[in-house]
Parts: sequence; structure tokens; C-alpha cells
Amino acid sequence: MLAYSAYRAFETPRPVGYCITISRNPKRTRRGARMELAITKPDDWHLHLRDGDLLQAVVSHSARHFGRAIVMPNLKPPVTTTARAVAYKEAILKAIPTGSEFNPLMTLYLTDETSPEEIKIARKSGVVYAVKMYPAGATTNSQDGVTDVFGKCLPVLEEMVKQEMPLLVHGEVTDPDVDTFDREKVFIETILAPLVQKFPQLKIVMEHITTLDAVRFIESCNKETVAATVTPQHLLLNRNSLFKGGLQPHNYCLPVLKREIHRQAIVSAVTSGSRQYFLGTDSAPHERRRKECSCGCAGIYSAPVALSLYAKVFEQAGALDKLEAFTSFNGPDFYGLPRNTSRMVLRKSAWEVPKTYTYPSGELVPMFAGETLEWLPFDI
Ligand code: NCD
Ligand code: ZN
Repeated sequence: MLAYSAYRAFETPRPVGYCITISRNPKRTRRGARMELAITKPDDWHLHLRDGDLLQAVVSHSARHFGRAIVMPNLKPPVTTTARAVAYKEAILKAIPTGSEFNPLMTLYLTDETSPEEIKIARKSGVVYAVKMYPAGATTNSQDGVTDVFGKCLPVLEEMVKQEMPLLVHGEVTDPDVDTFDREKVFIETILAPLVQKFPQLKIVMEHITTLDAVRFIESCNKETVAATVTPQHLLLNRNSLFKGGLQPHNYCLPVLKREIHRQAIVSAVTSGSRQYFLGTDSAPHERRRKECSCGCAGIYSAPVALSLYAKVFEQAGALDKLEAFTSFNGPDFYGLPRNTSRMVLRKSAWEVPKTYTYPSGELVPMFAGETLEWLPFDI
């Protein structure tokens, strides 16, 4: 009885089938209780960890709250071979805090030159879990990406079907004549839909979806073979956030934020409980001076705040009961991997996001820097 009335004090519906604990909290006077949500440890299915001292600066933020992460290969030079992926994984493991069980799942960067043989090697390695396709020029470090997926890449895609290797897609066309805000929609029409038709057995993840068009497309596809990752920024912000009170470089990412109707469509999609959507932060750190300059880089650093933000979205939608599937079940189920067995807690407790994180080469400004968030994640 105490638990239920205390829960109602936060005006959210009671999650069903999830471990909700209400612990007494001397600091909180309102009915003397605090809400905690215990969930299976989440994974991040789209993460940029970078290398060098930037890797060192960011990896602990992901390792603290996530069991595994699909690590993006858009380094300079890109991770185009299994040998490079193995070396990159070693560098990541060296950089994670002692005692952490964080497991980086590596990816290969698809180019016009990738061979079917490389896919076989990747599968055998047990280190590479997916291949990432960047249309050449679409985003940060994508200049070596694919120029024509229906050209030279066909034998590689056929081998990926055989090896059951998922294809992760940056879903934007690069044609400068196509309006930036339409690039995802046009990509779906001209590339992704034909690709799914040509390779119905290929597992495809449309990364960081941003539009109602993407939601409609994903839902029209086979649930076993086509899915999407969703970022915190595309769930919480619309394109007004780019210009609020002046140009806001720390809200700039690709695909760029869209209109409010698109944000709402994505929120409805992920909070519906559909297993086709899973957590992918697209946390993409760039040193502050590379964001705050005359030609700022695309990418939002969300790793330290992502879980709090996803919880906020599900709470606002009255769907906290669907949060755990999104953070911790749908991803491994799609990839055919076991779910994590350890658990973590999200406590309803205000905390302030640091304004910056300092590291030897400069500073990182996280998403929602300096703001107060309500859900505090911690290990149990
Ligand atoms: C990413 C990056 O910085 O590597 N940037 C971004 O805006 N999301 C690349 C990407 O995922 O598009
Ligand atoms: Zn990304």
C-alpha cells in the first residue's frame, strides 16, 4: 500500500512486470519514499568511441552503464578490415576502467573495395558483429564510404546474407540537391526499400531514425530482418533546438533534428513496445573547439546522460513498463545474442549534468550540459 501510493506521488503509471522498488529516503519528504526502477543492464547498439585520448576520455561513461556496445568504425583511417577491428577492440579494452565487464562489439566500415572474403574473415573472428554502410560524404569520416550500393557492393551483401552478418545503415542520401531535412526520406525511397526487396534475408538496422517516414518504413518490413536504433536527441528534441536563442552547435548531429511531428512519431514508435526498435545513443564526441567554430562537426555527446534521457521519454509517454525491452531486450534479440544477466537501477533522483568534461586535448560538452535530469542510473 505504501509502495503504491508513493509511486502515484510521481504521477506515472505503474510499470507491469518490472521490478519496482520504493526505498525510504530521508531526503525526500514527499510521502517519504523514492522510486527506483531495476532493469536488465542495457546495451548501446550505436556508439562512437573514437581513439587516442578521446577514447580514454569517453569510454568509462559507456562502460559504467552499458553491458555491450556496437562500436562504430568511422575512425581516421576507417576500420575496414577485421585485423583493424581486432586492434581497435584491444585499444578499447585497455582504456576501460579495471573491473569493468564492458564488451565492445566491433563493426567493419563498408567501402567500394570491401571483399566477400573479408566478410568471411570477420565472421570467423568472433570479434566483428556487423558491417556499417555510410553513403560516401553523408557524415563525419564517411568520405571512404559506399558510392553505389547496387554496384560493387553486391557480392559483399550476398556474402553477408550467407554469413548472417547484419548491415547497419546510415540512412541519408548525399545528393546536394536534396534538402537536408528530406535526405532520410529520399534514402528510404531510393536505396533502402529497393535494398530490402533485393536482399529480403539480409538483417538490416536503420541507424538513428529521425522521421515518420522511417517509422512507417520499418513497420512495413519483416520484424525478423529489419529494425532501427533510436537516439535520445531524436526522441527529445526537434529542429527548433538548433536555433533556440542563437545557433546551438551542441544540438547538431546527423541526421539533423527534424520537425515536431517526426519527433512525436518516433516517441510513439519506441514506446509502443514494438521489438523493432532498440537503444542506440549515437553518442559522438567532438572536442569543444571542433563544435564551436565556423564549420562545426556533427555529433552529440550523449553517453553520460543517455539512460536518464531515455527514462524521461518513456516516463513522459506513460510507458515505463516498455523501457526495459527497448534498452535491454530488443537489441540482443535482433542480433541473436543473449540478453545481459546483470541488472542496474534507475533512481528517480535529481542530478546535474556537468557543464564540460575535461581531458588532455580539451573539453567535451555533453548533451543537456548544466541541466538537471531526474533519473540517476547506478549499478547494483
Ligand atoms: C557521427 C560522428 O561524429 O562520428 N556524427 C553524428 O552526427 N551522428 C557520425 C554519424 O553517426 O553520423
Ligand atoms: Zn553514429
